[in-house]
Amino acid sequence: METVVSGIRSTGNLHLGNYFGAVRNFVKMQHENNCYFFIADYHSLTTHPKPDDIHGNIRQVLAEYLACGIDPEVSTVFIQSDVPEVTELYLLLNMNAYVGELERTTSFKEKIRKHPDNINAGLLTYPVLMAADIIIHKANKVPVGKDQEQNLEMTRRFARRFNTIYGVDYFPEPDAYNFGMELIKIPGLDGTGKMGKSEGNGVFLADRPEDIRKKVMKAVTDTGPTAPGQEVTEPIRNLFTIMKAVSSPDTLAHFTEKYATAEIRYGDLKKQLAEDIIRFTDPVRTRINAILNDDAYLARVVKDGAEKARASAAKTIREVREIIGYRSF
Ligand code: TYM
Repeated sequence: METVVSGIRSTGNLHLGNYFGAVRNFVKMQHENNCYFFIADYHSLTTHPKPDDIHGNIRQVLAEYLACGIDPEVSTVFIQSDVPEVTELYLLLNMNAYVGELERTTSFKEKIRKHPDNINAGLLTYPVLMAADIIIHKANKVPVGKDQEQNLEMTRRFARRFNTIYGVDYFPEPDAYNFGMELIKIPGLDGTGKMGKSEGNGVFLADRPEDIRKKVMKAVTDTGPTAPGQEVTEPIRNLFTIMKAVSSPDTLAHFTEKYATAEIRYGDLKKQLAEDIIRFTDPVRTRINAILNDDAYLARVVKDGAEKARASAAKTIREVREIIGYRSF
């Protein structure tokens, strides 16, 4: 049995990218492994220092997690800020993380481009907190999407460095995991780039069918193939990628063939895609709403999760303190 850790920021609702990149894989792993799934609400403060409604956002994301099939009876589901031990490990790891390597990460460079007015130290040390989240439970596998690959490299590096500096073989080096396959990147509907929480290019699990139809019908396309065998452009490839995730292989094959023979009508493709997304999200949305109405259940999940996560984290912190040389008098 391996230990699996994954998380998601509380800055927005879950979209198809979050689901297919991370949550679905976690759900598939939870019965065979020792699984921890959490809401990264400290991480949210790196870009939302003054969140509008941090509690409401956490509650929503938690309900969405559970609605996707994360089972708190078999997995440990918790809120990052309920486990303060992680902040101690973060502090300790920060002592061996170098500003140069943190400044060079792609996500930091991207964030400073997007938020030039708020380049805070939390943003710089984001990968250190993420490493702490993962290695505090001594995880081996981390189901995440393609965009987290570099953060996982940093996690391995910090784990390895800790072992080297203190001359121990303590932390495993965890891998970004997708059942031996390439990590997933679900594109957005805007023709370019990945689906994101705040890019305005996403379909959210909680979206209503009429909104999903509107969004998909407005998705960026091109003028269409003019002759058989033409290469697929990025916006169309993106729609096919989403289709591959939500539609049947027959549907995908049908539209791939229509493209290849230059007979495709993008309106038909979009209509089918929207209905397939709705078929997939409808039951999830119903469950999200039911769970949001059950305060007692949510409170119980969070309390049990915090207890289990803290027990695991506290054990690591005790051992780490011992390794570094902090002893009691
Ligand atoms: P976040 O909240 O941006 O995204 C949560 C998960 O969803 C995946 N994801 C995607 N996968 C495929 N296609 C997409 N378009 C797409 N968009 C998002 C992400 O890869 C991620 O797995 N830093 C993390 C949160 C975090 C974490 C951790 C994750 C904090 N500590 C420890 C794992 C382990 C983040 O911002 O994810």
